[in-house]
Amino acid sequence: MKLITVNDYEELSRLAAEYIKAQLLLKANSNLGLATGMTPMGMYENLVKMYQNGEVSFKEATTFNLDEFLGISPSSPVSYYSYMMENLFNHIDIKKENINIPLSNPENEEKACNEYENKVVKKGIDLQILGIGTNGHIGFNEPGEELNDKTHVTNLKEETIKQNEKLLVERGEESAYHIPKRALTMGMGTILKADKIILLANGSNKKEIVSKMLHHNINTNLPATFLKLHKDVTVILDKESSPF
Ligand code: F6R
Repeated sequence: MKLITVNDYEELSRLAAEYIKAQLLLKANSNLGLATGMTPMGMYENLVKMYQNGEVSFKEATTFNLDEFLGISPSSPVSYYSYMMENLFNHIDIKKENINIPLSNPENEEKACNEYENKVVKKGIDLQILGIGTNGHIGFNEPGEELNDKTHVTNLKEETIKQNEKLLVERGEESAYHIPKRALTMGMGTILKADKIILLANGSNKKEIVSKMLHHNINTNLPATFLKLHKDVTVILDKESSPF
């Protein structure tokens, strides 16, 4: 794992966006793996600015989101579909047919998982962006006795639901909506198949889990430790989240 520590969230967001821009300049038809949550919001803001300034185009890119809540409509303000549209896709030149986000209301969940898995693996992700949960989850691969390697349905931990409530507060929707208890997520194996991985963490509430990820042996109770198995992971931290 390569570690980069920057001063603050602004710098982290700019640097993460620069990595995506560089990837697209190198290969315009890159397949990008994307995350939601509070962490990458600044990165998306920078990417939108870069697009508006003519520095980057997504015209030939394909995106795959890591996860989505289940049991809601895609148009719900809670959905990661809404998050991605509002924070990135509505503002750039990506083709609609090249956007892939797991379904939030599939008729057959198992079929939806298998189809998503097959599509991701067939295309192959060039660069995967990740955040980290305060409990060490990656995507929605929650800590537990075992990890699922492929795209699957998962029950979210209470801590994860609480963490996601911040997104609703950010939108002023916390009284009208609640975070679903189940989600569909790429598996740890799906994520580890990406060519390159960038993990972003900011803020003092991530310091402890970042430290554990770096110092603990690989174990399913801390899914982020599995990133140590990957040959090309860059961790970008701000000073507050850095344990050093
Ligand atoms: C989101 C995702 C999650 C988040 C993680 C951190 O698509 O897969 O693993 O990256 O929960 O969330 P924030 O950034 O809100 O702290």
